[in-house]
Amino acid sequence: MANTLLLYSTNYGLSQKICERIQASLGAKGHAADVRPLVGHGVDPAAYDAIVIGASIKHGKHHPSVLEFIRAHQGLLRSKPSALFSVNLVARKPAKNTPQTNPYLKRLLARSPWQPKLTGVFAGELDYSRYGPVDKHMMRFVMWINKGPTDFNTKVQFTNWDEVERFAGQVAKLVNGHG
Ligand SMILES: Cc1cc2nc3c(=O)[nH]c(=O)nc-3n(C[C@H](O)[C@H](O)[C@H](O)COP(=O)(O)O)c2cc1C
Repeated sequence: MANTLLLYSTNYGLSQKICERIQASLGAKGHAADVRPLVGHGVDPAAYDAIVIGASIKHGKHHPSVLEFIRAHQGLLRSKPSALFSVNLVARKPAKNTPQTNPYLKRLLARSPWQPKLTGVFAGELDYSRYGPVDKHMMRFVMWINKGPTDFNTKVQFTNWDEVERFAGQVAKLVNGHG
């Protein structure tokens, strides 16, 4: 039974929920997994058989800690089954929802010294009621530019959970050595 470390970098919790779904899916296949925040995870990543990093986008960027972790642990990440996924709203557009077409994941990979065997992109959620006044107005401006929902009452999750399950299945294959 393999033990996987699922590390998330989140602002509003969705990346954590996606990690928890992957954890449940791995659990159903008989694999253990721990879900931890990327910053302050409090565990030794070297003690795990596989590592998955999931990070969301805020104001056009993944949190700097994502690349910092990758740079600091690149040897370890290369030596084990490992995967990376990004969560963002641009990925709600069919033309930008794959690792090959999503600008944020592409940019992160271009800067990363580790090229994971498995990558994923998941569309995020939009819930203006949860954002502070500045973020709220910035998000509305971004949505206006992108022809997205600009009504402050909007609460919508674009995440394709079937796609998350499919990704979890690929993680399980990696963990089993068949990825
Ligand atoms: C303040 C703010 C800024 C955001 N900026 C972007 C952005 O520049 N591009 C994008 O595609 N999504 C953007 N998003 C959307 C988030 O990536 C999306 O809400 C995602 O679900 C957040 O995941 P998390 O809860 O794990 O942080 C932004 C969200 C917020 C709240």
